[in-house]
Amino acid sequence: MASEEVLYVEGGQALHGEVVVQGSKNAALPMIAASLLATEGQTVLHRVPPVKDVLVALQVLRELGARVEYDVERGVAVIDASGDISHRLPEDLSSRFRASVLFVGPLLSRFRRAWIREVGGCTIGSRPTDYHYRGFARLGAEVQGIAGGGFDVVAERLAGSYMYCDLPSHTGVENLVMAASLAEGESVIENAASDPEIVDFVHLLQKMGAEVEGAGTRTVRIRGVKKLRGAEHEVMYDRLDAGMLMMAGAITGGDIRLQGVELDHLGIFTAKLQQMGVHTTQDGDWLRVQGPQTLSPINVVTTFYPGFPTDLQPCIMALACVAKGDSYVRETVFENRLGHIKNLRAFGAQLSPEKDNLVIVHGPARLKGAQVRALDIRAGAACVLAGLAAEGRTSIHNLYQLDRGHAYLEDRLRNLGAKLERL
Ligand code: EPU
Repeated sequence: MASEEVLYVEGGQALHGEVVVQGSKNAALPMIAASLLATEGQTVLHRVPPVKDVLVALQVLRELGARVEYDVERGVAVIDASGDISHRLPEDLSSRFRASVLFVGPLLSRFRRAWIREVGGCTIGSRPTDYHYRGFARLGAEVQGIAGGGFDVVAERLAGSYMYCDLPSHTGVENLVMAASLAEGESVIENAASDPEIVDFVHLLQKMGAEVEGAGTRTVRIRGVKKLRGAEHEVMYDRLDAGMLMMAGAITGGDIRLQGVELDHLGIFTAKLQQMGVHTTQDGDWLRVQGPQTLSPINVVTTFYPGFPTDLQPCIMALACVAKGDSYVRETVFENRLGHIKNLRAFGAQLSPEKDNLVIVHGPARLKGAQVRALDIRAGAACVLAGLAAEGRTSIHNLYQLDRGHAYLEDRLRNLGAKLERL
């Protein structure tokens, strides 16, 4: 068995210099799934980040029968799904990769059948997929559970329908849009999530020939078409990678410039950073981020877009640990996304979890290097930030989690003057 890789961070360096934000994982994933809808032509995606979740998604496509070329250096994926494609998702990959549910919508749409081995919860919560399957059923599909967990979804025909999400679900909307894109007639998805990744994904679908209106609002309408063809698209920049890098500049009291920050996608997040004393200045394509000597405390409540993103909650909690005074951070999107409290305590931070997923962070803590384990992508990113701010050496284990969402992270941080090494 290969020995586990560990990321060592020698903290205490203020970051300086320039860094480029990667392409968006959460926009690229539904686009990769959507390529299955094209019965002619190739789907060409630019700025596809080589993060582990994307590599697994491309492997799922290959195992389904698509031809996939991925130029990692250029970030270009060329996908041809016009040949024979299986409706059965590869079991080993789909059972350990949550975003595999995104393949069900397009397979159902194109073949009227999809089979998936799906698992239950993950470290951030139970992550149900009931909105997805209820929506497929409303389009006319029969959804049957399979022994051991998963679903066999079969439809004789799919007919446009009224669908809804009880809570605005990000991948739920993407999946239902794909499922309805080749159905007969019109569909509506009410209480849809409005995240920028959904808007970007719908742009690709429109280029493929889909008729979708209202992406980015709470009501999305789809008029089914007869067929879809491959198209070319540049994936948006990753707002979560951008946010993480902005906070790396901020927590070290650094002065960095980032290319690829869409401030429109990060409104409340940027306002919160500014309230903490961080200066941000837009200069053409570049955003300058200057961290103060001492950060101010902050109140954060995570919620659906355009609210404060749950995916940036672990990292801003790391910032709150070193801010002068008490901060209040409440997680409302996922019921179990506070596992990083344990990590942050290992660095010497003072945090009091209260009821209802509220955490009071008592700053400022003098963080000391620690040995920690990345629980998920974003908790891992919080450990990197704490390690950058801490005195002494930090070792981060379980890097697979970090690699699921950030590509070349240590190279990019090293270019900013951080001292880190993967061994
Ligand atoms: N929900 C249900 N039933 C469903 C679907 C969702 O109850 O069928 C609930 C969830 O339990 C949660 C809420 O609705 O309480 C919102 O979850 P959502 O469906 O929006 O999450 P997701 O689509 O599974 C995506 C991102 C996550 C991100 C969330 C929230 C992708 C591939 N994943 O997940 O990203 O945290 O939206 O913004 O787009 C990450 O990148 O680290 C990550 C976890």
